[in-house]
Amino acid sequence: MATSKKYDVVVFGASGFTGQYVVEELGRVTSEEERGLTWAVAGRSEDKLNKVLEKASATIGVDLKDVVDVLVADVEKEETLNDMAAQAQLVLNCVGPYRFFGEPVVKACVKNKAHHIDISGEPQYLESMQFKYDEEAKKKGVYIVQCCGFDSVPADLGVLYTVKNFPGKTGTTDN
Ligand SMILES: NC(=O)c1ccc[n+]([C@@H]2O[C@H](COP(=O)([O-])OP(=O)(O)OC[C@H]3O[C@@H](n4cnc5c(N)ncnc54)[C@H](OP(=O)(O)O)[C@@H]3O)[C@@H](O)[C@H]2O)c1
Repeated sequence: MATSKKYDVVVFGASGFTGQYVVEELGRVTSEEERGLTWAVAGRSEDKLNKVLEKASATIGVDLKDVVDVLVADVEKEETLNDMAAQAQLVLNCVGPYRFFGEPVVKACVKNKAHHIDISGEPQYLESMQFKYDEEAKKKGVYIVQCCGFDSVPADLGVLYTVKNFPGKTGTTDN
């Protein structure tokens, strides 16, 4: 990924149940590869984020505090989301429930040309984001990828099965 952004990846909501696992896994993966991915953790409490880095460092045996920056960003403060998205090539958004907290993050990502991945599964959020931001995201070359992870896997497998077994050509599929 060629990028002029400061960070390849920002994990937003790193202090949550899911976010902490993402931090551990990203820490593990990036410490094993040579390319030197640049990344940061983000959330509304700097203190909590520092503790997450400490805990993850102890778990994986790698000092993340030296290589991972901490950004303070709050869903309720638009300028902090813009600041985060402006520095990120990709925002991994772990802040939910998405129907309450998701839109401002998608909006900031599209505005500031950051790709966005989340672990949502709420149909109303998914569809309204597609309606509102699809056109602008396409124009800017930004990917908004939703529904990644555990709960979404059965639906994805269902689509894959249907595509493989459908007697004819498949164009688009809806879950
Ligand atoms: N795809 C799936 O299979 C799947 C499965 C389970 C859940 N989910 C989704 O994933 C979401 C996260 O789950 P979780 O269990 O990790 O939740 P969680 O432990 O409650 O974590 C929520 C995170 O959001 C942050 N947050 C809340 N309000 C915020 C705000 N105003 N600004 C910035 N950050 C804010 C919290 O920060 P603080 O630490 O500061 O409070 C925390 O880091 C759920 O809401 C759900 O939508 C998906």
